Amino acid sequence: MKINEAELLKWDADHIMHWVMPVGQNAGIIMDRAEGVCFYDTEGKEYIDGASQLVCVTLGYKYNEEIAAAAAEQLKKMPFMHNFWGFTNTATLECARRLSKLTPEGLDHFCFTNGGSESTEGAFQYARKYWKNKGAHNKRKIISLYNSYHGVMYASSTATGLAMGHFSADFAPLVPDFIKAPSYYCYRCMLDLEYPQCGIACAKQLEKIIQLEGADNIAAFIAEPVHGTAGHMPPPPEYWPMVRAICSKYDVLLIADEVMSGFGRTGKAFAVDHWDVKPDMMAMAKGITSSYIPFGAVAMNDVVYEGLKGSMFAGATFSSHVVGSAVSSKVLEIYVRDKVFDNAAKMGQYALERLKGKFLELPCVGEISGLGLMIGIEIVEDKATKRAFDPDSKVMLDIQQKALEKGLFIRVSDQSWSSGNRISFCPPLTVTKQEVDRILDILYPLVTALKPQQA
Ligand SMILES: Cc1ncc(COP(=O)(O)O)c(C=O)c1O
Repeated sequence: MKINEAELLKWDADHIMHWVMPVGQNAGIIMDRAEGVCFYDTEGKEYIDGASQLVCVTLGYKYNEEIAAAAAEQLKKMPFMHNFWGFTNTATLECARRLSKLTPEGLDHFCFTNGGSESTEGAFQYARKYWKNKGAHNKRKIISLYNSYHGVMYASSTATGLAMGHFSADFAPLVPDFIKAPSYYCYRCMLDLEYPQCGIACAKQLEKIIQLEGADNIAAFIAEPVHGTAGHMPPPPEYWPMVRAICSKYDVLLIADEVMSGFGRTGKAFAVDHWDVKPDMMAMAKGITSSYIPFGAVAMNDVVYEGLKGSMFAGATFSSHVVGSAVSSKVLEIYVRDKVFDNAAKMGQYALERLKGKFLELPCVGEISGLGLMIGIEIVEDKATKRAFDPDSKVMLDIQQKALEKGLFIRVSDQSWSSGNRISFCPPLTVTKQEVDRILDILYPLVTALKPQQA
């Protein structure tokens, strides 16, 4: 029977909620399959994936057969085994042992989850419990950054500093005892300073906030090593070593949210590896299975694990799923076997050079920065003043829509919810030079067409 597209789309709008889209609407396309670094709609139109969907499809769709075989094998052998009451299993053990070879040294104790929000949420609970166990009953405040994204649950959206008035305001009140510190986004410095004369004042603000709130009241500081959802903004290189030192000085646990930046996205296994920083805990998801199946993890160091020993936590039914574990093991094997992170570093370098060479000179491009294949292109209305296009003009959504029409899927951030109007360049880590060129060749005329406006 021939699919009636229009009817199906109407049924979809009437029955299925879509994220970041008003309820009752859809994008008017039905996706059907994915291959290589492309996905295809029911009409057969090809879209090259310039965003790894939600910056999560790290391998692209190049390993579908191999990973499906690993999942099928586990499904036939033992499709489910809970993690409660101390039960363990071969699939989870294999996954944890492989993971411990990739995580920064010392971060080799794990708790497995269903995804990123559950990982950050868990990390907050472990931090608070850790201090309670030590008798530091007031150490419960969590500091996070403006421009950050940490997830959709109550605590993770409270920690999120992005789109604060946009998404979370409607289901307030949020969770108490969460504090925000300035973002490290240099191009639009919240402290109105210039790098490097600033002396990394944003990192120093963390120390001031800890002093003002009282170190005895602070459980943890969480940050993305590179701002992700806000538009891919890397910190200055001094930032992470400085916040590591501040957290150590004041007995504040450092949580790196590597949900987006982990598993090779920045050209190294984890983004903190760029600065040789060892957090106390690390939240992970997305690339842990290349999104072949929902899965996530929290890694913690010896100190945190020892501090939690003897404590009991409740888990969700599906947390630590054996099929997630089996898929993750296979994905981690592929990362190492096929040197996927090296390819991300090389392709990221190539793309950044091409972007800085050709795009940066365009009248509406203010700044381009990134690490590996986590790159952001800042779109401005006026280069001299850095004035952004008015969010009501929908310039960013228009770029996204025009790209889609030309067969390119990209993500944009918009000043209605982020500090920056940015186009994200973050294709799968398996992308080739020809595929990078194809994405940039589609993007270039769209950015060239933007015209600066008079104030
Ligand atoms: C840094 C970061 N943390 C947490 C999350 C939430 O992860 P999930 O969507 O898997 O719940 C995301 C999702 O984009 C993220 O980028």
